[in-house]
Amino acid sequence: MKIELPKHRRLQPGPASNVVMATCVGRSGRPNIITLGMYMPISIDPPLVCIGVAPRRYSHALIEETGEFVVNTPSIDLEEQMHYCGVRSGRDVDKWAETGLTPTPALKVKPPLIEECFSHLECRVVQSHICGDHTLFLGEVVATSANAEFMDGDVLDVLKARPIVQKNHVYYSVCEK
Ligand SMILES: Cc1cc2nc3c(=O)[nH]c(=O)nc-3n(C[C@H](O)[C@H](O)[C@H](O)COP(=O)(O)O)c2cc1C
Repeated sequence: MKIELPKHRRLQPGPASNVVMATCVGRSGRPNIITLGMYMPISIDPPLVCIGVAPRRYSHALIEETGEFVVNTPSIDLEEQMHYCGVRSGRDVDKWAETGLTPTPALKVKPPLIEECFSHLECRVVQSHICGDHTLFLGEVVATSANAEFMDGDVLDVLKARPIVQKNHVYYSVCEK
């Protein structure tokens, strides 16, 4: 038997979405972190990913200013810091100072990497589209890096890295193959 749900609850076809932490920096040079569920790879060659950011987010203005962002993937060990970056705004707090996360220079873009995350996609915005109540930023991946201990060759060992998935802001990690 099927039951009808309110429209917004049908957005995620599966049980959960992958959670990432995007870093960005505006002209002021002060970097920020935003937690995102709206992340998706969309092209392999050229390598393109998209993120959905609501216009009212502080990060939205920063990404527009410099046209760059980094997609950092946290493991479940960073649940508390990840959640904090998803409920507080960089307009009001310094999320680096409040969470103890460490900014590390990226290889090719201005926003820093989050050292404690296990993988990083450095992106330059190539297109942006207003999609309802979010802006879709399409980013070309210009550099990628990851923690060596979580890699099996150039493939991520998901069971070691333990990325976070979420459903309605309840967080889960992957623990079985
Ligand atoms: C698990 C989780 C997922 C989120 N996903 C998104 C998202 O995809 N897009 C978005 O605009 N905000 C999302 N948010 C909300 C922002 O992270 C939140 O509003 C944040 O405080 C914005 O920070 P800023 O004002 O410093 O940019 C999410 C929050 C959480 C906790």
